[in-house]
Amino acid sequence: MFLKTLKIPARAFLQCVNRGVISPKHRVGLGRGPSRPYYEIAQPVASSARTVDLRSDTVTKPGAAMRQAMAEAEVGDDVFGEDPTVNELQKMAAEVFGMEAALYVPSGTMANLIAVMVHCRERGDEMIVGDLSHLHIYEQGGSAQLAGVHSTTVTNLPDGTFDLDQLESKIRHGYPDAHYPRSRLVCVENTHNIQGGRVLPLPFLQEVKALADRYGLAVHMDGARMMNAAIAQKVAPSTILQNTHTVSVCLSKGLGAPVGTMLAGPQDFISRAVRCRKALGGGLRQVGILAAAGKLALGDMINRLEEDHRHARTFAQALLECDPPLYEVDMAAVETNILRFRLRDASLTPTEFCALMAAVGEGEQAAMGQGVRVLMFPHIGDSVRAVWHLGISLEDTQLAIQKLQFVARQHSQQRLRAQ
Ligand SMILES: Cc1ncc(COP(=O)(O)O)c(C=O)c1O
Repeated sequence: MFLKTLKIPARAFLQCVNRGVISPKHRVGLGRGPSRPYYEIAQPVASSARTVDLRSDTVTKPGAAMRQAMAEAEVGDDVFGEDPTVNELQKMAAEVFGMEAALYVPSGTMANLIAVMVHCRERGDEMIVGDLSHLHIYEQGGSAQLAGVHSTTVTNLPDGTFDLDQLESKIRHGYPDAHYPRSRLVCVENTHNIQGGRVLPLPFLQEVKALADRYGLAVHMDGARMMNAAIAQKVAPSTILQNTHTVSVCLSKGLGAPVGTMLAGPQDFISRAVRCRKALGGGLRQVGILAAAGKLALGDMINRLEEDHRHARTFAQALLECDPPLYEVDMAAVETNILRFRLRDASLTPTEFCALMAAVGEGEQAAMGQGVRVLMFPHIGDSVRAVWHLGISLEDTQLAIQKLQFVARQHSQQRLRAQ
């Protein structure tokens, strides 16, 4: 009903949003100053609508400073180990993480797969993963499909951890009895994406590592957003990573690089990882052009993650305070840049709500002074997910807040009219 008041069909718009094909004409007048030199600032075009893209922290675009570093990068053949920019980035990452060595790989998915391949060397080896982990849900079962690795799951709790007794119960003790796979690896995810950017507590990580060590298993951290965890916990990355054998850390999420993930661990692990990366087609040649952006990401972008966390909390608080009340959020769960919230009114589904936020509604320009499209995704458990990143300023956040208030008012009026 209410959807009919939109200027375009809401579901059609949402499909476009989901496919990432929002028209460039909607990316207008972002109004950001030179304090964001690494982010591409869109030029105003003839439209009064603004877009605030909270779908993911993967949507950032490199700005002038990053592009210049890329243009000027010294390069060589990285498959020969001769790209000086890649070598510098790898050295830098190993130092920042407190690990012996690091390797530049094209994506988080490939980094996780390589880690699984190196830790689980025999076909049929088994890894233990969270049932809501990215590795288990969103990486197409690559560990089974490409590495011949069997998975068993532990139940991810709302804070991204799992029960340690359950973990212990999943370790196989039958090997070499021919009936059983051999347990080799435990994977943790920090911060936890599906659970809403939750930061794994250090004591949990210590206990997982102690348990894994007791049984001779390795621990790999999918640390796509490990830097967000370090900022939230106010500790050095190495303080977190001393509790894991290996880690993958994405440069292309909150840190704002266009491409790349660092895989880090002991030197012998990285030597084997180089071989796996080549087998997977991830051995790139003059890739210093991309690594130059990675160096800026790792050098200059870590501390600004706090800004994303602050904006996410500001938005979450506004959800709670919204009048009329439409939203539910657990403030204690808002720890980093990923926010999950729910709608109190079951007559408005997360998909419909996202469509309303993404379209300029009737009367919106008059009520808010301009049209604002806020892009978010419906998420698991009837929730909505919004993610803050380099491309979202405080002004964007405030516009998104005005929009959520507008949608709540419109929805409440619609309900009253329907009674
Ligand atoms: C927790 C986590 N791990 C791994 C990945 C995969 O990264 P990529 O998209 O670079 O393959 C993602 C991507 O969103 C992620 O959120």
